[in-house]
Amino acid sequence: MYRTKTCGELRITDVDKQVTLSGWVQRVRRMGGMTFADLRDRYGITQLVFNEETADSALWAEANKLGREYVIQVTGTINERSSKNSKIPTGEIEIAVSSLTVLNAAETPPFTIEDNTDGGDDIRMKYRYLDLRRPCVRRNLEMRHKMAFEVRNYLDKQGFLEVETPVLIGSTPEGARDFVVPSRMNPGQFYALPQSPQTLKQLLMVAGFDRYFQIVKCFRDEDLRADRQPEFTQIDCEMSFVEQEDVLEIFEGMAKHLFKTIRGIEITEPFPRMPWIEAMTKYGSDKPDLRFGMEFVELMDVLKGHGFSVFDEAAYIGGICAKGAASYTRKQLDALTDFVKRPQIGAKGMVYARVEADGHVKSSVDKFYSQEVLQQMKAVFSAEPGDLILILSGADAMKTRKQLCELRLHVADQLGLRDKNQFACLWVVDFPLFEWSEEEGRLMAMHHPFTSPKPEDIPLLDSDPAAARANAYDMVINGVEVGGGSIRIHDSELQDKMFKILGFTEERAREQFGFLLDAFKFGAPPHGGLAYGLDRWVSLFAGLDSIRDCIAFPKNNSGRDVMLDAPAPLDPSQLEELHLNVEPLDE
Ligand code: AMO
Repeated sequence: MYRTKTCGELRITDVDKQVTLSGWVQRVRRMGGMTFADLRDRYGITQLVFNEETADSALWAEANKLGREYVIQVTGTINERSSKNSKIPTGEIEIAVSSLTVLNAAETPPFTIEDNTDGGDDIRMKYRYLDLRRPCVRRNLEMRHKMAFEVRNYLDKQGFLEVETPVLIGSTPEGARDFVVPSRMNPGQFYALPQSPQTLKQLLMVAGFDRYFQIVKCFRDEDLRADRQPEFTQIDCEMSFVEQEDVLEIFEGMAKHLFKTIRGIEITEPFPRMPWIEAMTKYGSDKPDLRFGMEFVELMDVLKGHGFSVFDEAAYIGGICAKGAASYTRKQLDALTDFVKRPQIGAKGMVYARVEADGHVKSSVDKFYSQEVLQQMKAVFSAEPGDLILILSGADAMKTRKQLCELRLHVADQLGLRDKNQFACLWVVDFPLFEWSEEEGRLMAMHHPFTSPKPEDIPLLDSDPAAARANAYDMVINGVEVGGGSIRIHDSELQDKMFKILGFTEERAREQFGFLLDAFKFGAPPHGGLAYGLDRWVSLFAGLDSIRDCIAFPKNNSGRDVMLDAPAPLDPSQLEELHLNVEPLDE
């Protein structure tokens, strides 16, 4: 037997027992005639002690050869420690080692394997298996396991069946680029990896499965961000004979179940619902962070027409009021202006106004505005002495609101209003069915082409499709979209019409989605569903800055796996077999 106990379970009540433990040497401290080593496994750390006086010379010699990350097996007696460590559960005991076997020596690792490591991002990703030994990283994966387990638990109780769908399929329209796989048996032809199992889960509804779910890998070739990976995991679900309300009820229930079982937080209130247009108008985002206020206030009526040309020419003037932030220095305000002027945000400038202790408003555009107008502005914000008002304007109302959204989040970060242990959940509902794509010069599906319009908006598909709203919904927590879904179209005529509005020719629609259009002719039940992003849920619950930290083997920002060194060129023989020609890259 390699071990009788783990490194995390021994306590003061076990004193005098004999045990055998196996694990990795985290640290060795040599102090005269005593050598101490911390032995680590998945379950914890236990202190080992070797005593020159009592150990035989072979054991003492072996103990003093131990290095970091050696894999060893020890047998010994559990003793009470003289200097106890209250920070770890095993901190009251130590093992007086009587026998030691080195199971595997280790080279010195490239970084320290402790929560506070000295390793940078790149090196930790290259040696990810060492990074995964760090307790803080391991804990994220433990939480991930527990969440997946609780998801299955909840959905099983609700009658959902877990069904696997294939990975080698055709293109799925979730708005990103596909990853493609060449087919050797079908030369010149390619599979696409699923951006989601969307069409397949709809077919499972046609097949009568009624309630489906799957914890499933999805693949999207898109630019990476802290909350995006090219392969990520969805908790994908679909239900038959449901309306929007039924879907929201089941998945709000699942969210509450996860809060309770994973974080011990009981949420009894229903999640607020916010129409998309309200979210965009008040927060400039379809995923508003509601942990704090700072709602936008529109200022067109108050500030236009006073001779300040920037505002006079603007299509939108709006601002936020940061409570108690009037103490921002000139330097801090200049930094905020630089922040909104960054190319990624793209504002032309920022106007600020402080409410002073006596109620007087002092602004950066005082020469254009009388105190009376500034007081009116103060009133629309309900601003008080000590508050700071920040204002942006622009020629495009939605663009300016999105810039103001960035400013709102940035200032909230500075003011410490985005506490990771506080959670603000909501449903964003009533999304537009389409959005205009400048790049493509046409309407695109905001969610995906199978999303049903609101029944009352169906006539708009002929008269003004851009104004039609969808039966679509997103769940948002702390400014993160943790899931989204919709009620689907189950009528082949309506689906045909959608494809036409989206600019598909009949042939292309048939070519790409003929199987679905056919299926709808054989009795499709009304259906709808949702997919949660598992990685995003875990990273929210674990308080992480990036979803990478809860994925065992993630990709870096260029979509590379630096440990496996993938992607990589193919051997010429493999290319030949696949009938592929690769053009040489221009250096
Ligand atoms: P959607 O595209 O909104 O919907 O995806 C569902 C959820 O998946 C998560 N997500 C991601 N997580 C990490 N990295 C990514 N690149 C990434 N992209 C998406 C988000 C998102 O809310 N088929 C529809 C669902 C449906 O209609 O039922 C779909 O895929 O948390």
